[in-house]
Amino acid sequence: MIRLEALTKYYGEIRAVHSLTFSVARGEVFGLLGPNGAGKTTTIRMLTTLTKPTSGRAWVAGYDVVEEPLEVKRRIGIAPQHLNLDGELTARENLEFHGRLYHMPRSERRRRIEELLAFVGLEERADDLVEKFSGGMKRRLLIARALMHSPEVLFLDEPTVGLDPATRRKIWDLIRSLRGEGVTVLMTTHYIEEAEQLCDRVGIIDRGELIALDSPSQLKRRLGSFTVEVYHSGRVERRFFPTREEALEYGAEHARCDACDFSVRETNLEDVFIELTGRRIE
Ligand SMILES: Nc1ncnc2c1ncn2[C@@H]1O[C@H](COP(=O)(O)OP(=O)(O)O)[C@@H](O)[C@H]1O
Ligand SMILES: [Mg+2]
Repeated sequence: MIRLEALTKYYGEIRAVHSLTFSVARGEVFGLLGPNGAGKTTTIRMLTTLTKPTSGRAWVAGYDVVEEPLEVKRRIGIAPQHLNLDGELTARENLEFHGRLYHMPRSERRRRIEELLAFVGLEERADDLVEKFSGGMKRRLLIARALMHSPEVLFLDEPTVGLDPATRRKIWDLIRSLRGEGVTVLMTTHYIEEAEQLCDRVGIIDRGELIALDSPSQLKRRLGSFTVEVYHSGRVERRFFPTREEALEYGAEHARCDACDFSVRETNLEDVFIELTGRRIE
């Protein structure tokens, strides 16, 4: 459904995205995980035809993003990182406006607006001005708007940035229910847990480069599903093992002094990122 081949973007001397190659299957929820400045938004902007690649190619829903941008645009929905709703319009009016932009017939607009307001839980606020909405409500409306014209592929750029944990979970539920409907989702995030919880596969991106790509469980398994942290005199040593038993054994053996201690936990994608880059994501 989405295919990138050596997709690259330079802004002058700055290499924002370097030779990304991967594919996203129909119906998949795919996550690009990486720290701020990794090139996630730039990648989405190229895939959604908003900015031209410097080199390389990409196809969305079978269409080349540079050669056939209109065909691509017709088939995609975008919820950008920076909220771009019209605050002086109501929720319903924002959706209505979008439906008109996409030449949806009036009856279909009406039906879809009701459906989507219910889907994102904003029926009761449908006729309130968006400028009065909380951050979470705006994010939900942004997703509804992106879905208005029933796109085959949905791009979500940092869909929960800045939201509290409870609100974030509501957005996660929305994304999960999209999977059930067969929409292909490409989302970006710098939240480890979000990528782990939601994505069928995760591409870890750092400084414009794809440094790992697999399902969250497979990425962790490759490193070792259990992490032991051994503390001695203020230092932490981390080791990874396939089983909890092996991790416990290592900890017991290497935390013998009085000032030593250790703990065993499940490995997460942050560990994977640190192991690959030597830095933290968040
Ligand atoms: N319009 C632009 N002009 C110049 N540099 C840009 C522009 N947009 C992004 N960049 C740079 O490209 C790199 C990747 O940015 P971005 O794609 O926004 O990363 P992310 O979304 O992962 O935080 C950063 O170094 C950023 O400063
Ligand atoms: Mg970004």
